[in-house]
Amino acid sequence: MDKPAYLLHRGDALAAYGSWPAPVVVISDGAYGVRGFHGDTTGVGGLLDWYRPHVEAWSRYATPATTLWFWNTEVGWATVHPLLVASGWDYIQVITWDKGVAHIAGNVNGKTIRRFPVVSEVCAFYQRRFEVRGVDGLMPVQQWLRHEWQRSGLCLNRANEACGVRNAATRKYLTRDWLWYWPPGEMIERLAAYANEHGAESGWPYYSLDGQAPVTAKDWDALRHNWRHTHGVTNVWQLAPLHGVERIKGTMKRAAPRVYNPSSLSSAHLNQKPLRFMHRILSAVTDPGDVVWEPFGGLASASVAAVESGRFPCVAEIDHDFAEIAAQRLDDARSGRDQEADEPA
Ligand SMILES: C[S@@+](CC[C@H](N)C(=O)[O-])C[C@H]1O[C@@H](n2cnc3c(N)ncnc32)[C@H](O)[C@@H]1O
Repeated sequence: MDKPAYLLHRGDALAAYGSWPAPVVVISDGAYGVRGFHGDTTGVGGLLDWYRPHVEAWSRYATPATTLWFWNTEVGWATVHPLLVASGWDYIQVITWDKGVAHIAGNVNGKTIRRFPVVSEVCAFYQRRFEVRGVDGLMPVQQWLRHEWQRSGLCLNRANEACGVRNAATRKYLTRDWLWYWPPGEMIERLAAYANEHGAESGWPYYSLDGQAPVTAKDWDALRHNWRHTHGVTNVWQLAPLHGVERIKGTMKRAAPRVYNPSSLSSAHLNQKPLRFMHRILSAVTDPGDVVWEPFGGLASASVAAVESGRFPCVAEIDHDFAEIAAQRLDDARSGRDQEADEPA
């Protein structure tokens, strides 16, 4: 049987996580504390309790290379940030979505407003904290790299000889300061080979993650998230809120049978995210075939982008009507992709 193009769980994401394959990326667009959808909290005060069980699940099923993209308001993100850090997610950066002045045009009363009008949302980018449990206990990766070299009894500058560099190994890979770099797989293999050949006798091989053998370049590189740079893209993303053909219109008829009526002119979901942003995230940190989790699907924008770009999305949506529209979008994306594949080159 052919592998499905996506998994859609029509219900609470908490019931789905355990059945999904491990995520390469989690794209979260859940509660904002602004009553944005049925089930959103009425203020940021409720956000920690709302997110806690989800963050626990993401942390349980993530791999060391999983990244998390957390969409929210500025204060919503600030509220949940300590929970993410305490759960082993390391902050990388925040992206600001600047929706432009058109977003508030005609909606601001200059006589009564007492702050600047808000035209932004944020998306905070996190990576899984990587700590190594070695012979001397659990350590952050930077500390472990230096610790292993010192455990071998070799002086630090011989690491440069091991890596075939003038001073980059001591300056970048074994340093204690903030100029530290994550060594590429090839370099960790060189450090390991040298330490194991020239270092003091030890019952635990140097640079081993399992106490049996030194880590290989391939295994080491798989511990780190992907990054594909696009020239000119910064952490401020300017785009007006969705309108035009991408904005899904329509409502579900409330009476049974509940069917989707696409001719209605109202927006199907107030929080629909631009596909362009979702493609940007996926292209930066994933490869075709990678598993994408979208726990709070809405109209499943991240998952539609994932299907379009050959990734494998696992999406949940608790609201029956939104899930129905999401399923249609996902099927359309799959047909579009199938057609593209059938077209002669
Ligand atoms: C902010 S919207 C997501 C919009 C989406 N990014 C899009 O582009 O359409 C959040 C969605 O999460 C859904 N939701 C809330 N709690 C959920 C849960 N526990 N499991 C699955 N879906 C949930 C809501 O029904 C809502 O549609």
